Amino acid sequence: MEVIRLTGDDWRTLCEVRLAALADAPHAYGSTLAGEAASDEADWRRRLDTALWVVAVHAGGPAGLAGLYLSEPDTPMLISVWVSPDHRGLGVGDALVTEVFRWAKENRWSSVVLRVADGNDAARGLFLRHGFAPTGRREPLESDPGVLTEMLVRAL
Ligand SMILES: CC(C)(COP(=O)(O)OP(=O)(O)OC[C@H]1O[C@@H](n2cnc3c(N)ncnc32)[C@H](O)[C@@H]1OP(=O)(O)O)[C@@H](O)C(=O)NCCC(=O)NCCS
Repeated sequence: MEVIRLTGDDWRTLCEVRLAALADAPHAYGSTLAGEAASDEADWRRRLDTALWVVAVHAGGPAGLAGLYLSEPDTPMLISVWVSPDHRGLGVGDALVTEVFRWAKENRWSSVVLRVADGNDAARGLFLRHGFAPTGRREPLESDPGVLTEMLVRAL
């Protein structure tokens, strides 16, 4: 298994893996499959330009995805974390988060934030293991406002 950083022309890979994530785990994300499936090449290229993306590859196929969205100049947000169901529990999530941290440090960012839905214990456990701390700051999940998300923060 290797973790690859996507570059400007990898929009088809981002599209394929992101739509697979949204189809598999719609409860985990603020965006919806219907919304992102309607995206064209320009939309995917814009997503590549406004975030750093890493993909885990195993046996020639995608095994996971994570992005680092530059929402604010000094505090990037870890987004779209996903591991394909047949690769869970094998350390793929660890590898994705580790590579995102490495990239964030190269860019000299001092911290990373993320949002995780209440009840998503697998994701929360992964993030707490990697040093993220709860902030108590909660907001509704855009795709399902009855579900709350909590912001976690990790100093680098
Ligand atoms: C959350 C997620 C990224 C974790 O990926 P992972 O590589 O399996 O991470 P881990 O190996 O650290 O496993 C995390 C937890 O998943 C559970 N798990 C382990 N093996 C599993 C398997 N085969 N299938 C399902 N869950 C499993 C365990 O509870 C584990 O927690 P532990 O620390 O008690 O062992 C992955 O489950 C996923 O993609 N979920 C759907 C999308 C999602 O929730 N994304 C996060 C958005 S904030």
